[in-house]
Amino acid sequence: MAPIGIIGGSGFYKLVGIKNPQRVYVDTPFGAVVMTRGILAKKEVVFLPRHGEGHTIPPHRINYHANAYAMYKLGVEKVIATSAVGSIRDDLRPGDFVLPDQIIDFTKNRKYTFFDGDFSIRLRNGEVRRGVYHVDVTEPYCRELREIIYEVGKEMSIAIHFGGTYVCTEGPRFETPAEIRFFKIIGGDIVGMTNSPEVFLFKELDICYALICVVTNYAAGMQKRITQEEVLEVFKERSEILAELIKRVVARL
Ligand code: HPA
Repeated sequence: MAPIGIIGGSGFYKLVGIKNPQRVYVDTPFGAVVMTRGILAKKEVVFLPRHGEGHTIPPHRINYHANAYAMYKLGVEKVIATSAVGSIRDDLRPGDFVLPDQIIDFTKNRKYTFFDGDFSIRLRNGEVRRGVYHVDVTEPYCRELREIIYEVGKEMSIAIHFGGTYVCTEGPRFETPAEIRFFKIIGGDIVGMTNSPEVFLFKELDICYALICVVTNYAAGMQKRITQEEVLEVFKERSEILAELIKRVVARL
């Protein structure tokens, strides 16, 4: 069985409940990646905290290419990722979970693709993608996986929202209230700093990828101010239930 990939966001640096954890070092053409491999809910999983174990890597410095490629190299076919986000909508409250189905990219200075010229990759189904390749992102997030997460979340009585548009900013600063007003007008629901290019790179590798967002705050201008401490604190408060949700989803896959 292919291992299931789990990516931890801000405040999620260790996978609670993982059995026989082993550190694995994966070499990729984009750099080496350290992950934890083990068993969760009787399934093989690999866990990767995208900001590093001590939150040392800011959003614009994450090696998204190496992370995605390392998952591919380990044979991962499904990825459950997690992220802290700000809410642009009154009805998405701090503590709520959101499973986005769309994304608008407002990053400015990242490498967005594997297909930069001479890259080629053989997918699980035998298809080879190479050279100049334009991936279809009509459905950026894996529907099947999102449905399972939603179903399990509902069974657990979590305040979980199916669908939403994630706006990705460059960071590392939080947004201005004017930016948030603009994001609201163009249809944004939540805002974060890491999902581009992450979701697109997994799409290029044809790996089923879903994101569980934890709303940690109302976005700039919707509350007095935003602090990093608040983001981490709210995430931490929700991390036990998030870990349980992931465990139950893994069991169901
Ligand atoms: N903006 C961007 N990223 C975030 C936020 C926010 O308000 N909260 C948590 N991650």
